[in-house]
Amino acid sequence: MRYARINDRLAGLGGAKWGVHVRANVLAAQGHDVIRLTIGEPDVSAPGEIVQCAADAMTDGRTGYSDGRGEIGLRQALANRYSDRTGRPIGPDQVLCLPGTQTALFVTMMGLTEESDEVLTGDPLYATYEGVIRASGARMVSVPLRSEMGFRLQADDIEARITSASRAILLNTPHNPTGAVLTRDEVAAIGEVARRHDLWIVSDEVYEELIFEDVPFASPLSFPELADRTVVVSSISKSHAAPGFRSGWAVASAEFVSRLLPLAETMLFGNQPFIADMTEMAVRQPSEAAAGMRKRFARRAKRLTDRLEGDGFFRVNRPQAGMFALIDISSTGMDSETYASDLLERTGVAVMPGTSFGDGLAGWVRVALTVPDETLERACDLILGHAEKIGESSREAAQ
Ligand SMILES: Cc1ncc(COP(=O)(O)O)c(C=O)c1O
Repeated sequence: MRYARINDRLAGLGGAKWGVHVRANVLAAQGHDVIRLTIGEPDVSAPGEIVQCAADAMTDGRTGYSDGRGEIGLRQALANRYSDRTGRPIGPDQVLCLPGTQTALFVTMMGLTEESDEVLTGDPLYATYEGVIRASGARMVSVPLRSEMGFRLQADDIEARITSASRAILLNTPHNPTGAVLTRDEVAAIGEVARRHDLWIVSDEVYEELIFEDVPFASPLSFPELADRTVVVSSISKSHAAPGFRSGWAVASAEFVSRLLPLAETMLFGNQPFIADMTEMAVRQPSEAAAGMRKRFARRAKRLTDRLEGDGFFRVNRPQAGMFALIDISSTGMDSETYASDLLERTGVAVMPGTSFGDGLAGWVRVALTVPDETLERACDLILGHAEKIGESSREAAQ
């Protein structure tokens, strides 16, 4: 007997990246005072009304098998929403409901790529992208995201890495971990590259509703000339603080949906009608949960920037969206893993080493903005105190 090669391709992705987070949990379990800025989950629970909607739907018997594409009410609600956002008619036959953005990414990549294909995506990147790309046997081609460009993916940088094996560009806007939002011109330029080289564009827009004020959002789906080659994946995990419900979708051409339906049905045989009902309710109106998070996360990002940049030792990449901020820690002289471990052991503040998100963040750490304001203030005090100690030690070493 033997295991299939997919297990080898995915083995080893994951574990080590979370070392600091795991250590923080151990310290906390031992009774140490630990501030965990490692993982970002919505800082509120899913709104009571949508939870109630799911509970009522269950009680009302909405517990049978679903349509393989997802329940028609939800697909229509999503079709309306994307028609409004793109200014073009999008029909329910263009929507495939899946349990979360993660599954939507997996099905999409399995349906569009295979062994020896290449998928281009930015580095840094969201932790599961490498696995999602490798699962089908495709190869990930990293496109460096440059801090001087606000970490926004540039069309020229993509084009320089295109080969005859290139099959798809995986976009993430707003971006995790950088909080960058691509401009309309940048999306158009990337779209042009995709057209020139006949590539798919898979656009992970799960943070769309967490864009801070005055930053416009652009999706490749809004460009009629890109519509046939674009697959948008998203969910209510972030927008409605509801990651545990596992409710997401892919929106693309009707042909994409019918071609990938057998793959989706082979995995799922439809997803849960009671979750479809609550998701339909959620996406039919603006999310108050998202509005609250936008406000709080933007406020905390500004406060973190003001505090840490105050004496010029650190630089903060202030996010335009999402739940995280990046701190440039290169002035400490440490790499991101050494810094994160040292900070945790000496102060109890846990941050994610930048290298957990790709090679491009060796001099950065990521902090979650999802803790209460007072906790973030305390974390800033500790980070600044720690930096002072590093400065003292290096001065002593120099004497
Ligand atoms: C960029 C990105 N894509 C996808 C996901 C997964 O989202 P979902 O809960 O919808 O599967 C996350 C979760 O953190 C994310 O940050």
